[in-house]
Amino acid sequence: MRIGLIGAGNVGINAHIPAVQANEGMAVVAVADQTPDRLAAAAGAAGLEPDMVYPNWRDLVVRDDIDAVIVATPQRFRPEIVIAAAKAGKHILAEKPLALTPADAQAMIDAAHANGVTLATVHNYHFMPVYRDIKDILDSGEVGQPEIAVLNYLGVEDRPGAAAYNPTWRHNSADSGGGVLMDMLHVVYLATWFMGGPPIAVSAWVNKRLEGNGDVEDVALVRYIYANGQALVNMAWGVGPGGIEIGGARGRVVMTNKGFGTHPFVPAERLDVVNDVGSRSWTPAEAVAYGMTGIAGNFRDAVASGGDPIANGETGLGVLDAVLGAYVSGALGQEVTLPLPSDHPVYRKGSAGIADLDLPDASPVVRQGLFGTGSAK
Ligand SMILES: NC(=O)c1ccc[n+]([C@@H]2O[C@H](COP(=O)([O-])OP(=O)(O)OC[C@H]3O[C@@H](n4cnc5c(N)ncnc54)[C@H](O)[C@@H]3O)[C@@H](O)[C@H]2O)c1
Repeated sequence: MRIGLIGAGNVGINAHIPAVQANEGMAVVAVADQTPDRLAAAAGAAGLEPDMVYPNWRDLVVRDDIDAVIVATPQRFRPEIVIAAAKAGKHILAEKPLALTPADAQAMIDAAHANGVTLATVHNYHFMPVYRDIKDILDSGEVGQPEIAVLNYLGVEDRPGAAAYNPTWRHNSADSGGGVLMDMLHVVYLATWFMGGPPIAVSAWVNKRLEGNGDVEDVALVRYIYANGQALVNMAWGVGPGGIEIGGARGRVVMTNKGFGTHPFVPAERLDVVNDVGSRSWTPAEAVAYGMTGIAGNFRDAVASGGDPIANGETGLGVLDAVLGAYVSGALGQEVTLPLPSDHPVYRKGSAGIADLDLPDASPVVRQGLFGTGSAK
């Protein structure tokens, strides 16, 4: 599989290039990035000739000798690139979140279907050993049907983007669509994976309490409701606690991280299973490159077989919708049914549509001017 990498930022160079190189039968043969420094760094990392590096991604996607693209730009640019790549007949591995809006994500899915190409979303935490272990325990029935999952990620590191581009794009909702929950939506798809199906409703506290975070949230305390129970996804930039506890009628599984910090910013130190017949514990393996090697191989295999990748476009859309639903709930102070209907302002405009809602003055989203609802930038 001959791959063109579009977007050579931190994740492109540090994760996608080595992940592709670690898999047999695939190679990064071209790179596009409009920032000269990043383009040069990517060309060096992938060992590319000058005729395979492009300041403009449009020149890359039309090459006949490229089978697939990895789209690792910030999400604002992803829909246009993905749709053009699909029309050019390229298979697509798209970073998360797929887009700023569910409407755009749906258009990307439609373009992939219409052109008979695979659209996969980079939901790489599926390939981290500790989460695989938890999923195996839940599937084995050892703790019973999961009813309550508490996923604490309150010590997420606020890592800037590549210095040569725009290091603070994650703090501007017009670029990112949201703050820490949008960026760490990994935990939202993990919750769906563990609970065995998508959330049907959400209620959330969404706020900003640190200085200098633009117009996005830096804390989101979210309660997702599923057919069989609920998950609390607690997410913040800062130094709060991390760890997972999932319970069913027979017992519980507990992930404890180094220093009670937030995984994968610190390693997962211990998994415990306690149930009605006993207990056991072990140290889970750590992932190489945040599970990206697994994602690259899974994409290659899905394209080869014509089957579904671990996360397809529809999966990516569902997770984006669940994140935006939490923002709507936090803004309104109400539980919100998921998925958002296609005529909802936030379905069409992403978090920018929150300003169109009838928001209570007491809403922390309004008070902090999040998602373009005020002047606090
Ligand atoms: N799956 C993961 O674990 C993971 C980890 C980090 C980032 N990401 C995602 O990857 C994406 C990029 O994140 P990052 O941390 O690498 O950001 P970054 O700011 O480090 O890099 C972004 C890169 O995209 C380039 N770019 C911007 N617009 C472009 C365009 N129109 N055409 C070509 N290149 C363009 C920039 O020049 C820059 O090099 C984001 O969507 C982010 O959510 C995913």
